[in-house]
Amino acid sequence: MNGTFLIRTFGCQMNEHDSERIGGMLRADGMTPTDDVADARVIVLNTCAIRENADNKLYGNLGHLKPLKAEHPDLRIVVAGCLAQKDQGVIQQKAPWVDVVVGTHALPHLLDLLRRAEADGPQMDVAEYTDLFPSALPSARDDAFRAWVSIAVGCDNACTFCIVPFVRGAQRSRAIGDVLAEIQGLVREGVVEVTLLGQNVNTYGRDVTIPGSSRRPLFADLLRQVNDVEGLRRIRFTSPHPHDFTPDVIGAMAESDKVCEHIHFPLQSGSDRVLKAMQRSYRRERYLGWLDAIRDAIPAIAVSTDIIVGFPGETEEDFADTLDVVSRARFDSAYTFQYSPRPATRAASMPDQVSKEVVQERFDRLVALQQEISLEKAREQVGTEVEVLVEGAGPRRSSTQARTRTNRIVHLAERLDPGAFVTARITDAAAHHLTGEVVPAPASV
Ligand code: SAH
Ligand code: SF4
Ligand code: F3S
Repeated sequence: MNGTFLIRTFGCQMNEHDSERIGGMLRADGMTPTDDVADARVIVLNTCAIRENADNKLYGNLGHLKPLKAEHPDLRIVVAGCLAQKDQGVIQQKAPWVDVVVGTHALPHLLDLLRRAEADGPQMDVAEYTDLFPSALPSARDDAFRAWVSIAVGCDNACTFCIVPFVRGAQRSRAIGDVLAEIQGLVREGVVEVTLLGQNVNTYGRDVTIPGSSRRPLFADLLRQVNDVEGLRRIRFTSPHPHDFTPDVIGAMAESDKVCEHIHFPLQSGSDRVLKAMQRSYRRERYLGWLDAIRDAIPAIAVSTDIIVGFPGETEEDFADTLDVVSRARFDSAYTFQYSPRPATRAASMPDQVSKEVVQERFDRLVALQQEISLEKAREQVGTEVEVLVEGAGPRRSSTQARTRTNRIVHLAERLDPGAFVTARITDAAAHHLTGEVVPAPASV
């Protein structure tokens, strides 16, 4: 196809990864990207289904596109991603001006579907097969120096609040060799940082065996082998499950100098009763014990988390337990969510759904507590000197945004080239970013 395309990405890192593949396929087909909705020949909404407001957002966006489609009948509208997988035929029922619905498993078929839509009208493919990992598709990356690398898709857990297993399917891991080949190729193109992606990234490998042996590749093996890729500088991974930070994974992280000192360690709730109802495999003391062990092994580690407020049946006492774990865990940052019932999940039909007002009030208290802790943790950084990777322009056009290995954002006063590594002295701290100045490199002798 000729002309321009525009992709809107609504979801998590995996969703961003898929958007880069969608962009890659459209470019390979001869199209060019645009930021101008009115000018686009193809508009792709790459959707997320994790919370209810995601649904509202999609149908809101489609409503806005209706008059545009009426004006430009040549416009092709594509709905991809997890909500496409979840809502399937409902999308074109509610919005008949949608040309293509492509589910999470059928992404490689996007160009075919577009071509068929040109000839025969609206198309949908939400079949649950994949002959091809999206990783094998061409990619159009936003950054020249950082890349997402999918190592597994799907999730075998069954957290009772979560829709992901329904829209992404069971876990399927890629062969280590494929992952390494992709990363080596990326490094040749100038990439210095990779983020390994999976819905439950640290259970990588459980569903495959190493060819010629009965052994399963493990996440720890993968980390060590990625660490050996020459030219690569930083390795991150997301999103992990606390349960699967086994001693071998922690050991591999501690030994591998490229693996950054940051983990995402999703708590969800600090109440044992709620954790059980969520079908999370740990309880509060076990969680805090794991956290201590990780901090002992990797003292510089920064920890972020996810917390859900207002899971069905959550009492004030349960919530107090969450506040207590948050105080004791001292996370560097937390993503806090108000519970949102998702169709087909067990929690959606549990009794004692918590009222909106109560959820909001608890949510505000949690955010205030975490804000205080985030600020304290950030202030501990003032006076330190750290390696940062320059990402791009900062809040002022003359300034720069860079990132520490511990995933903290640092604003620098001077303009620097994206992709550069510099040493920064931290001079000031806010809850969500640090301010620093560049420490000149010592003159070489
Ligand atoms: N694989 C990741 C989770 C991805 S979803 C993991 O296991 O950590 C990201 C976060 O969204 C979850 O950690 C959870 O905190 C939140 N979330 C998931 N389902 C939700 C729901 N129904 N309501 C509110 N928050 C939810
Ligand atoms: Fe969802 Fe994560 Fe639980 Fe899997 S482990 S069901 S993705 S919250
Ligand atoms: Fe959303 Fe799908 Fe990611 S539901 S969080 S885009 S896996």
